[in-house]
Amino acid sequence: MNEITKAPDHTVVNLQEEYNKTDIQHIIDNLEADLVGLKPVKARIREIAALLLIDRLRKTLGMEAGNPGLHMSFTGSPGTGKTLVALKMADILYKLGYIRKGHLLEVTRDDLVGQYIGHTAPKTKEVLKKAMGGVLFIDEAYYLYKPDNERDYGSEAIEILLQVMENQRDDLVVILAGYKDRMDVFYESNPGLASRIANHVHFPDYSPVELLSIAKMMLEEQQYKLTPEAENILLDYIQIRMEQPLFANARSVKNALDRARMRQANRIFETSADLVLTKTDLVTLLPEDLLKSRLFANR
Ligand SMILES: Nc1ncnc2c1ncn2[C@@H]1O[C@H](COP(=O)(O)OP(=O)(O)OP(=O)(O)O)[C@@H](O)[C@H]1O
Ligand SMILES: [Mg+2]
Repeated sequence: MNEITKAPDHTVVNLQEEYNKTDIQHIIDNLEADLVGLKPVKARIREIAALLLIDRLRKTLGMEAGNPGLHMSFTGSPGTGKTLVALKMADILYKLGYIRKGHLLEVTRDDLVGQYIGHTAPKTKEVLKKAMGGVLFIDEAYYLYKPDNERDYGSEAIEILLQVMENQRDDLVVILAGYKDRMDVFYESNPGLASRIANHVHFPDYSPVELLSIAKMMLEEQQYKLTPEAENILLDYIQIRMEQPLFANARSVKNALDRARMRQANRIFETSADLVLTKTDLVTLLPEDLLKSRLFANR
């Protein structure tokens, strides 16, 4: 066995130096800038980053650094940023040296579970092989488990997953994602899985004002702008859309903006075909680009 040589107690390590080496501040700053809202999620990420950094320092001094299992559960409604945050998480874990490659592989039940006997194990193992050194993100993880079907192959995938989560946790982080209530039920029926997940992170629904900020950020990235009136109309739109079925938070907003851009293009085309256009014309979204939405039709 390897004897670990311990540094004497008065050896110093420079936290700031280690910190700078990781470039982690940069990611955390980006997190603040790129992610609207999600306060508890950001706080959680900072905690995990701090833990990993301290672990690194302890290792430098020859101390036991544990090997915190970092498997996670992300719960929340559609479009609340789970995939986005998982990508950032993969980056952080990579920069802190926890995983070798830092890629994210997003899968669902169909990628893991086969249709016929004998198909599931090779399928699951293949996915795990691809995910090694990075993050495996399993969306709507509860579909893996079908309690009403005894012979469902999903449980075979879960078994293999469990083993790898335990034995190769220094080289793979698994994130299970889905709606909160369904995930809770899933964990109740799969205590083995639940006990291997150290971090449960919940993504709350966004408020209308947060969604408006997200919209403005998305538009800025694409070099579009709302007039002040158009901004008010978008806020109305968001408030109405939230009450409707299949609302998917930031994703619904993104889709609405895509359609508004299409209407803007159409408007410009129809009204100014023979005119010279300015940059402002091309950048600006007007109220009518939003008001033509079906959502406002019966009002
Ligand atoms: N807080 C946020 N700030 C900025 N953009 C966001 C934020 N949350 C989500 N988005 C954007 O909204 C879109 C949907 O987010 P994402 O795909 O991460 O949601 P999700 O929770 O994974 O949804 P689903 O459960 O449906 O897969 C993406 O384009 C993402 O970049
Ligand atoms: Mg997603």
